[in-house]
Amino acid sequence: MTQTSTPSPAASDARTPRVRSRLFSVLVGLSTLVVLLQGLWAGLFVQEGQDYKDGWVEVHARGADVAIALALVAVVLALVKLRSRRDLVIGSIVFLVLLVLEAYLGGLIGDRAGLTAVHFPLAMLLMGLAVWLPLRASRR
Ligand code: HEM
Repeated sequence: MTQTSTPSPAASDARTPRVRSRLFSVLVGLSTLVVLLQGLWAGLFVQEGQDYKDGWVEVHARGADVAIALALVAVVLALVKLRSRRDLVIGSIVFLVLLVLEAYLGGLIGDRAGLTAVHFPLAMLLMGLAVWLPLRASRR
């Protein structure tokens, strides 16, 4: 009697090449760079005992716009070209949603300074995700 065997998930995973997109990696990589720079701009406008410097706050705000725009295009690309990569689709959507939330909370800090207690840690979480996502995207 012949026995048919189905490949184990691990074996089939090893044979199936994982889809990648260079453009997705570039978009996510640029977005990561902008998120990291957000910390630098913040360091330039947050000075102990002084008012925030408006010029750098403006740069920080525009940086958020650029990061969100790049992340949005990355999500569209993931949905269109990388649908089989659930890790990248979900990761990029979570990244976009957290960026929008971060920008929204940042805009409220002027009226409610206490929101820095959420804005700063969320920025750390975003940085973690911003490093994980391009590393994941570059994996086969
Ligand atoms: C270490 C990282 C970060 C720190 C320390 C930080 C700090 C701050 C602070 C203190 C403000 C209040 C400025 C003010 O309105 O007077 C602010 C505003 C803001 N932040 Fe951040 N932030 C960080 C990361 C981010 C990231 C990753 C984003 C991306 C979405 C972001 C987006 C914004 C926006 C849109 C504002 C409002 C700017 C405005 O009032 O026009 N921040 N941030």
